[in-house]
Amino acid sequence: MSTTDADGTSLPDYVAGFADQPTEVAVEDLATTGAIPEWLEGDLLRNGPAMWRVGGRRLNHWFDGMAMLHRFSIHAGKVSYANRFLRSKDYQAAKNGSIEFAEFATDPCRSLFKRMTANFSPVYSSNANVNITKVADDFVAMTETPIQIAFNPETLDTLGVVEYEDSLTPGITTAHPHYDVTTHELINYMLKMGRNSTYTVFGIPRGSKHRQAIGTADTPRPSYMHSFALTENYIVLMEFPFVVNPLSMLLSGRPFIENYRWKPELGTTFTLFDRADGSTTRLHTDEPWFAFHHVNAYEESGQLILDVSVYADAEIVSDLFLNSLLGPVPDSSDYRPPQLPPFSLRRFTLDLQANTVQSHQLCEQPLELPRINYGSHNARAYRFAYGISVDPTEPAAFLDRLAKIDVESGESIVWYEPNTYPGEPVFVSRPGASDEDDGVVLSVVLDAAAGSSFLLVLDARDLSEIARATVPQAVPFGFHGQFIRSD
Ligand SMILES: [Fe+2]
Repeated sequence: MSTTDADGTSLPDYVAGFADQPTEVAVEDLATTGAIPEWLEGDLLRNGPAMWRVGGRRLNHWFDGMAMLHRFSIHAGKVSYANRFLRSKDYQAAKNGSIEFAEFATDPCRSLFKRMTANFSPVYSSNANVNITKVADDFVAMTETPIQIAFNPETLDTLGVVEYEDSLTPGITTAHPHYDVTTHELINYMLKMGRNSTYTVFGIPRGSKHRQAIGTADTPRPSYMHSFALTENYIVLMEFPFVVNPLSMLLSGRPFIENYRWKPELGTTFTLFDRADGSTTRLHTDEPWFAFHHVNAYEESGQLILDVSVYADAEIVSDLFLNSLLGPVPDSSDYRPPQLPPFSLRRFTLDLQANTVQSHQLCEQPLELPRINYGSHNARAYRFAYGISVDPTEPAAFLDRLAKIDVESGESIVWYEPNTYPGEPVFVSRPGASDEDDGVVLSVVLDAAAGSSFLLVLDARDLSEIARATVPQAVPFGFHGQFIRSD
């Protein structure tokens, strides 16, 4: 289905998910069909961009938009919704019509001198639009810069930059920290770029803001890694051959991601950090892969199993520029019709004795923004993954369905409704459940025809609809969120 813009140009209908949403609301008791399960009590907190137009200019990329927090509160079978922009410095400037900080793929218009000054003393973006986590007692909005922003989960008010109580050198990181449910550590990595670039993996003990280095690994060509894998004994960085020359980056004057280059001849390297002593092991495959998201990982019989939503190359990063996603712009000479590249759920088996890497595709149905029953199965053998997907038999302009994949059998179940576009499905287990998939998945879905969004509640066993609660406006396409159970 398509829609038509003011100039009469035909555009795909999912463009509604990339429209700025300037309206901040707090709506009680959303119109609901079906019956919300009695046991489902808590808040779905989500993060994502919601403003891409700044001072008459459009930001370049989906990932550049100004962060908005969303809260769906579910209590006694009723759902309320609220949204607030994160009051970052980036947002404050944007609201005044000015791009003052370097985003993922958009840079401020600076003089060469200011650019040089900024590059040697980086001013990181605080537009934390990717994910939400908890550090000590703070709810925190995260992106891939070291600046994280605390917010009030009830009012969604911005509280300020999280101050860590350590001396770790700030650097590029991920918005996908792992939480070890056994040790209660929050784990992530940080990249220090320079003549000698270094990955440092670190843990944050429960209740603490002190990041403790676990191990370090040098790299001549840092890889763009949006997430990583955690097992019982290892932290694994899957270094894709989408790499940057840090010294060139300092001088290039180009936006962050445009400094990365696809170099398939490098293959893919797995850097394993032993969590006990920080020692590192590297395994390699000549096959070049790219991914944003690890699904799950675990150890089995001396092997590491890593399930990853992979692409054959890094072209997807270019495909998520708004010029590609939203069709032609008047002065664009490099326009291509939007079509997502193929992606798939792939299992990598790392044999630590034989020092080999083997891989195979787990399922025909593709999977992105993957989630699992994290609380009981992260870093353990598991069976079910949930995500957003496409029809594997048709070229896809955008992700338009939800999928559940049985990673043992390769079978899948799909939820699909024409002209709707679901976001990341968050699994919530039923209290007392013993089956891995006994619970619900929650997804915020854009109804393109209605110009509004709804919270969809599906039975995680078969993706049948249990309920939906409609928001009186559109929720722009976001990234990640967490369900916080009521005490
Ligand atoms: Fe992500």
